Amino acid sequence: MDEGKALRILLIIGGGIAAYKSCELIRLIRRNGGEVTCVLTDGGAQFVTPMTLAALSENSVHTTLWDLKNEVEMGHIQLSREADLIVVCPATANMLAKMAAGIADDLATTLLLATDKPVMAVPAMNVRMWGHAATQANVATLRDAGVMVLQPDEGTMACGEYGAGRLPEPDAIWAAIARWTGSGAGSAGEAAPKEEQGGLGGLIASLIPRGTKTRAAAQDALLADKGSARISPDDLGPRATATGFGDAFDGAPLAGRHVLVTAGPTHEPIDPVRYIANRSSGKQGFAIAAAAAAAGARVTLVAGPVTLDTPPGVTRIDVQTAREMLAAVRTALPADVAVMAAAVADWRTRDAMDQKLKKRSSAPPALMLEENPDILATLGTSDARPGLLIGFAAETQDVVENARGKRTRKRADWIVANDVSGGIGQSVMGGASNTIHLVTQSGVENWPEMPKEEVAVKLVERIAGALENIDD
Ligand code: CTP
Repeated sequence: MDEGKALRILLIIGGGIAAYKSCELIRLIRRNGGEVTCVLTDGGAQFVTPMTLAALSENSVHTTLWDLKNEVEMGHIQLSREADLIVVCPATANMLAKMAAGIADDLATTLLLATDKPVMAVPAMNVRMWGHAATQANVATLRDAGVMVLQPDEGTMACGEYGAGRLPEPDAIWAAIARWTGSGAGSAGEAAPKEEQGGLGGLIASLIPRGTKTRAAAQDALLADKGSARISPDDLGPRATATGFGDAFDGAPLAGRHVLVTAGPTHEPIDPVRYIANRSSGKQGFAIAAAAAAAGARVTLVAGPVTLDTPPGVTRIDVQTAREMLAAVRTALPADVAVMAAAVADWRTRDAMDQKLKKRSSAPPALMLEENPDILATLGTSDARPGLLIGFAAETQDVVENARGKRTRKRADWIVANDVSGGIGQSVMGGASNTIHLVTQSGVENWPEMPKEEVAVKLVERIAGALENIDD
């Protein structure tokens, strides 16, 4: 990508129900300063029309290899030459299979075979199709060939089944594009921060295998170079000493580790003045972030809307919605440990209004809800899954039983379970202390009631011990 120039994306839209989400992706790319040219497959055209894509991208939409005028000018080669990046979204099982086998039987697959540009594929399909050995082998072939294949989300599918295979949300896809190209990641609606490093930084980082120390170091350097409002170099060190946790730890048991923490509630907008929320104060997650920093870790705290101060030495990323939280979590990876303490809203309104809803004399408005992505479960099945993945469980009944179920369902290593029953104002949510049941593979530990800071120190000690064992 030429420095200072808009990122040019050639977007190939495959034939799946998730094709409609590519419309939102176009809007996000453009809002962040990029340009989009669309190639629509025959299958994709069953779900979205060329007219819609042309209107959103303000560019012609290409549908066929047999457009004589374009072929005289070698249109399919030219199309990919003019792009910085090709994004296939949604990438169906069929499309991935053709890409892996080198089949070129329409415009999309022909230009994918002919291109020398970086390619990202965003899969979306039924859970069994995704899990099928053939699809997984195709994904492995493509990754070996340098194609960035994103991990699909887990959730309820259009076909009614549950599992991995859902198209990630457009803001998460945009965050992945921005991260890969070094265009400056922004969550939905943010203007892209000015990128001083150009496109190479992100691409180079993506070539270093995940989880290696080199990659972590390279990413640190990249983050430090970005200088955006989200992560400032100052936040990256030196590690804080005045954390409020004094000398809670012997030495720095988490030195050299990256700990990712989510905290607080999320707010899901109904209209510009109203939102869906919950009573989480963020205190427990903030205490864990502070304790991890005191133990010497580099800490990224992804915080929902709360009024708490950022603990010293902690890099904080503020988000509002669940989808923004997921995008920020993905951007913060890789991490050695993730502690998902946030009380993420399970649902959002299907159509948040641009204008304030007005009272009508007839009937109150009906809010249509749809499910938010499950951040913990998404991490649980992600290629970038941290070595130690810790979830929370807020329960009002059958605390341990429900927590056990969540641990396996979301593929977490540990669940920190607590009882949030109690009248309004008397719940653990918002309070200063907590009674924890730590559910691990080997059993359940019942901790006595203690201040949230003490819970944080105890948990960080356990984390440090577990990481040593993982290394051994
Ligand atoms: N979580 C998440 N994304 C969601 C919902 C929850 O990452 N959309 C995470 C929370 O951060 C926590 C764990 O999942 O670590 C369990 O959250 P909890 O609210 O207890 O469980 P839910 O999955 O929402 O299930 P339910 O509300 O039915 O108890």
